[in-house]
Amino acid sequence: MPRLSTREIMLQAARTGMVVPAFNVPHLPMMEPIVEALRAARAFGLIQVARLEWMKFKSGSLKAIRDTYAGCKDERFTRLHLDHVPVIDEDNLTVDVEAIIAEAMALGYESVMVDGSRLPLAGNIEATLKVVKMAHLAGLPVEAELGAVLGHESGPLPPYEELFLSGRGFTDPAEAKRFVAETGVDWLSVAVGNIHGAISGAAKSAKKVEARINVKRLDLIRAAVGQVPLVLHGGSGIRKESILAGVQHGIAKINVGTTLRQAYEAGVAVSAAEARQRTLAAATAVIRDELEIAGSADRLGTAGGIL
Ligand code: 13P
Repeated sequence: MPRLSTREIMLQAARTGMVVPAFNVPHLPMMEPIVEALRAARAFGLIQVARLEWMKFKSGSLKAIRDTYAGCKDERFTRLHLDHVPVIDEDNLTVDVEAIIAEAMALGYESVMVDGSRLPLAGNIEATLKVVKMAHLAGLPVEAELGAVLGHESGPLPPYEELFLSGRGFTDPAEAKRFVAETGVDWLSVAVGNIHGAISGAAKSAKKVEARINVKRLDLIRAAVGQVPLVLHGGSGIRKESILAGVQHGIAKINVGTTLRQAYEAGVAVSAAEARQRTLAAATAVIRDELEIAGSADRLGTAGGIL
């Protein structure tokens, strides 16, 4: 059985209406129990790290994550992805995106994300195109974001209902069409009611607001971008019916960070063993109960099953 690339796996997921979870690793010891949860459920998922997780949390560096991954990966069920590398970060600072992406590619990351969503459309297109050119030369797929998935910035969010009903920051279908055509991006992260869990202040440890998805908007985006797999960030704490509806309407990758981080951090206050156990339980609940993807590695063909 040939080893499937992340690009092929994601296209297969999008074609067959399946979702691939991408689990963030803000603390290195979270990784092994996440891999174990995927293996035990025979589900396929990505292990991912965002820049802010080595800057503001304890994942160390791109290399530390890669080395930890090398020690616990199971390629029947996992691949390694670089999550958010923002052009303008959550503190409004400009980031040398290309240097970070180049380092990740050299270290063996298997797909990358550039996040130009804080730029106007033309700037986002320009920044994304640069990364697409770099990554495609190495045969790696690129994820980019269009629209504002809020939540990482410091300070309070506007009330969720107001945000949802106004559609403020939602991905515009016509812009999505242009963005995909002009960048050649492989996967598109969209804003359709989803928000990121907070990463600073007291909100970081508080229960995340329950978000939902505007499926009509998702359908319009889907129709505008054709077969490009769509990505839902802010996957923690979205209503289950909303997540499953999102998957039926084109979401092929869902990013999950806060739920597992909070489980790990609560456990660490007790012991390392407790932290491992709670991370395993939280990942298992997402895989089996929320996303209902036990056995997905067999259906996607990564575990040696039949495509
Ligand atoms: P949550 O922390 O809200 O699950 O979002 C994770 C995410 O989207 C990382 O890119």
